[in-house]
Amino acid sequence: MTNPLNNPAPRPDLDEELLRRLFQGPLVLEQVAHDLLLPPEQVRQSLQELSRLGYQITTFPHRGIILQHSPDILIADETRARLPENIFARQLRIFKETRSTNDLVFQAGVQGALEGFCVLAESQTHGRGRNGRCWQTTAGKGLYLSLLFRPSWPPERAACLTYLTSVAFCRAAARLTGIRCGIKWPNDVLYQNKKIAGILTEARSQASRLEFAVVGIGINVHQQPGDFPEDLRARALSLGMAGAAANLRRAELLAVLLEETLRLYRAPWEDLRTEWKSLCLSTGQPLRIQCGRRIVEGQMIDIEENGHLVLRLPDGKIEVINSGEIL
Ligand code: BTN
Repeated sequence: MTNPLNNPAPRPDLDEELLRRLFQGPLVLEQVAHDLLLPPEQVRQSLQELSRLGYQITTFPHRGIILQHSPDILIADETRARLPENIFARQLRIFKETRSTNDLVFQAGVQGALEGFCVLAESQTHGRGRNGRCWQTTAGKGLYLSLLFRPSWPPERAACLTYLTSVAFCRAAARLTGIRCGIKWPNDVLYQNKKIAGILTEARSQASRLEFAVVGIGINVHQQPGDFPEDLRARALSLGMAGAAANLRRAELLAVLLEETLRLYRAPWEDLRTEWKSLCLSTGQPLRIQCGRRIVEGQMIDIEENGHLVLRLPDGKIEVINSGEIL
């Protein structure tokens, strides 16, 4: 398996710097070369390399060099150019294919990688969902990534990172496409009652301390019904199928997702909890929840401080559930 730690984070490089400037407006080759103390030929070569990747870069006689169109590809340089200060973007590695991005980030966590380490893959050979289910990837059409967190929290709060990421995705989808997704406890993001994204949080703890948590998110972006396995087709949706991704580039969705994730991670948990509850489709609803071998029925009334679900049972008693699945 590829060891991401053998591959140190690249320093801000010329491609990243050029993309950052191109996103801001026209540039003049000689000026960039002068600013960066580089020979103009090196800047020209880097621009040609970006053109080869599909960035449509045109030189206009009196206006300078302009980025006219960006391709729907995922390269770390673009994410870093968009989010120069973001801990996830700074440590982002992108693979064409891997077993599971959660596996890679978990392994990196064990080896001491810093908080913010992030792996994205175009496809996964062993993508995982909750409860041992398989998560199928469609190369070039979805976003599949895992993030490393090292909060100084007790282990039972790891689930809060699932909530955080689902709210971050709902915010990103609303910002970029205008659609309002909802959250199905504990880890599904739905639109029109169909699943558009799923989150898998896996944690390692030492005694009463959370050592690290890996949060993996799979987002359906450009898939069509035929891209999903037949048994999921009736329950799965992509942003494209929802009519919300015509001009959406996955790189932009990634950048906004990482931006919102970091913003929420730095925000007070109470604020996140309030927002999560407002997005949660199950709040106030009667639910049947599979908890191990038991089925619990009741009305969802709250999420506790530590992220556990609070249900009111038919006899009025309160039951707190830390993990389960809505049936
Ligand atoms: C679920 O809905 O059950 C969770 C799905 C999580 C899928 C993502 S894709 C990126 C990361 N790598 C994995 O193997 N799983 C998560």
